[in-house]
Amino acid sequence: MKRVIAAAAILSTFAGSIALAQGKVPFPVKARQGQMATMAMSLGVLGGMAQGKTEYDAAAAQAAANSLAGIAMIDPDILWQDGTAEGTASLPAIWDDADAFAAEWAKFVAGAEKAVAEAGTGKDALGPILGAVGGTCKSCHTSFRAK
Ligand code: HEC
Repeated sequence: MKRVIAAAAILSTFAGSIALAQGKVPFPVKARQGQMATMAMSLGVLGGMAQGKTEYDAAAAQAAANSLAGIAMIDPDILWQDGTAEGTASLPAIWDDADAFAAEWAKFVAGAEKAVAEAGTGKDALGPILGAVGGTCKSCHTSFRAK
């Protein structure tokens, strides 16, 4: 997580200092928490269909998978910038063991790619997708998110 895009860092330092002065949550923290919420909602759409709470709808399943894939394209270095751990559920291990965190993120990316390829093909595809993507949520949270 040492590599930070200069322009983004300057922008967020600026935005962050304004935000802190106003007692608000810094941009990168807001962004990663919003990203996580969007991941949870997208997975929830697929989970609801898998459990039969909502009827399987290929277009809606594909749209939820596309949302996961869109998030998977966001560079985690932008979201977990140096100095943004305090007061959040992000554990210091994210920065101290950046390679392991990157490996967890890569598992999510692979799960999202599976979802994009298969979510629209039928209800039976959803179980394996939930296993692949949902497993990465749990696995990363175990090591890198405060309880
Ligand atoms: C590569 C690691 C990683 C993966 C993969 C991951 N998370 Fe997270 N998640 C985190 C971290 C770290 C936080 C704490 C963020 C913070 O507060 O700074 C978090 C926080 C959250 C939160 C709380 C957000 C808030 O408003 O505070 C939710 C909800 C969440 N994750 C859902 C998910 C779901 C659902 C998935 C899988 C689809 C997932 N996460 C995958 C690392 C991960």
